[in-house]
Amino acid sequence: MAKNNTQNDEYVFECSGISKAFGGTQALKDVQLHVKRGEVLALLGENGAGKSTLMKAIIGLHQPDSGTMTFEGKPYSARSPVDAMNAGISMIHQELNPEPHLTIAESIFLKRESMNGIFLNKKAQNERAQKILDDFNFPYPATTVMKKLTIAQMQMVEIIKAVSSNARMIIMDEPTSSLDSEETNHLFQVIRDLKAQNVAIIYISHRMEEIFEICDSVAVFRDGTYVGSRSMENVTRPELISMMVGREVSNVFPKITVPIGETVFKVEGLCGKGFSDISFEVHAGEILGFSGLVGSGRSETMRAIFGLDRLESGKIYLEGKEIRIRSPREAINQGIAMVNEDRKDYGLCLFRSIRENISLPNLPSRQKGLLLNQRREKKECNEYSKLLTVKTPSIENNAFSLSGGNQQKVVIAKWIMANPKVLILDEPTRGVDVGAKSEIHALMGKFAQEGMAIIMISSELPEVMGMSDRILIYHEGKLNGEVTREEIDCGAVNQESILAKEFGE
Ligand SMILES: Nc1ncnc2c1ncn2[C@@H]1O[C@H](COP(=O)(O)OP(=O)(O)OP(=O)(O)O)[C@@H](O)[C@H]1O
Ligand SMILES: [Mg+2]
Repeated sequence: MAKNNTQNDEYVFECSGISKAFGGTQALKDVQLHVKRGEVLALLGENGAGKSTLMKAIIGLHQPDSGTMTFEGKPYSARSPVDAMNAGISMIHQELNPEPHLTIAESIFLKRESMNGIFLNKKAQNERAQKILDDFNFPYPATTVMKKLTIAQMQMVEIIKAVSSNARMIIMDEPTSSLDSEETNHLFQVIRDLKAQNVAIIYISHRMEEIFEICDSVAVFRDGTYVGSRSMENVTRPELISMMVGREVSNVFPKITVPIGETVFKVEGLCGKGFSDISFEVHAGEILGFSGLVGSGRSETMRAIFGLDRLESGKIYLEGKEIRIRSPREAINQGIAMVNEDRKDYGLCLFRSIRENISLPNLPSRQKGLLLNQRREKKECNEYSKLLTVKTPSIENNAFSLSGGNQQKVVIAKWIMANPKVLILDEPTRGVDVGAKSEIHALMGKFAQEGMAIIMISSELPEVMGMSDRILIYHEGKLNGEVTREEIDCGAVNQESILAKEFGE
């Protein structure tokens, strides 16, 4: 660690005049950033503001069109992430792309073997990795293959990898978007430890609570430009939001009261990998929330219902009739749609246009008229992408070119437009900025009003408490309690009491 730097010691990293264009999109316009040693600097901005692009420019995944950077007082540039890592800068990406067949140990030391001859020896590599994993209380042996891990665990491996590469600046691009409260607390502890060792952290998140909890200062971006920086002590949430969006966003959870109708969807005694004995029903117009820790079985249950994973036993009823679902295609044909936790798994074709992505699901309701009518399809796609503020020059562009949060909006638009009877949303607003988040919540309300039955999994307690008519709480693969809207509204139930149930009390 470079502790003996005398000049210009306050900032570990500085850049200015950075610009970057992708074709016709000017993703960054003459931006700057100053990062102090040992600070946690939040990067805030709407979806598509340029946050990830700037970070990728720092670690050499993109070459900026102009601008200069310094790291530890010296001119800095990176041709590749390995370059950046060797210099002391690591990044944990928003979109995790692990090599599924590698072991944890291999992932941790990927591209680093050459730096350390000893790690060409598998046994030494495994032992070293195991020691690092043990320091982090990671629950799997170093020889486990990556594909066995959940998204949350893969993310933790990335963090462990960065930390163990002796980085002096670590960029975390939405690191908590798939962590539950316990894992988030663990990460925050790791961040505090890193700070104590004078490591600087650039922290990107759309979750305001987190930014106020863990960050020392904040830099705000809007539309590819640098708006300004503040110390967290001297700034309020509304101020930050208006810096970000240039307007005020009032009600973050605009829950509309909708009369609850007949039972639309019902499951009885569902058992599968990671959950057992799950029974519940959802009514027309109802938003049924599911809370629980990551790995508690919520996503596993929904994946099995939707036909992505095998259901071992149990019954599923749609509008009173028992149905069988053996594949997502069958679920969709029955009128059940799901926005998946991992949007690439069953959500988005990155190399198709935004329009194609939105209009892909062939629900029976759409087959009748809509698909025949391409002009109307195009019009609707445009409407929804505008409504959800998908930031793109044209809906004919590939989904690949969108920022992370904008990809998520496309997945939501796609399923909402398909007008299913039952809509399952697994972490629907993950990575989505405050403005679009309230649009998505408003749309959920609107569709509930029209009689859709909505199931929502969310690890953000304020979201699940704000939006749900009822909440079912998971603990270790089983249901461990139910909370009603009334109980939340009258204050009989709060975040703490829901958390307690998530922990099995
Ligand atoms: N590879 C690419 N090709 C074309 N355009 C791109 C590419 N990567 C990013 N962009 C565009 O650059 C702009 C900035 O995107 P970026 O991913 O940096 O946003 P972000 O601030 O990280 O947003 P989010 O909060 O949604 O992750 C967006 O308009 C995006 O569509
Ligand atoms: Mg991003």
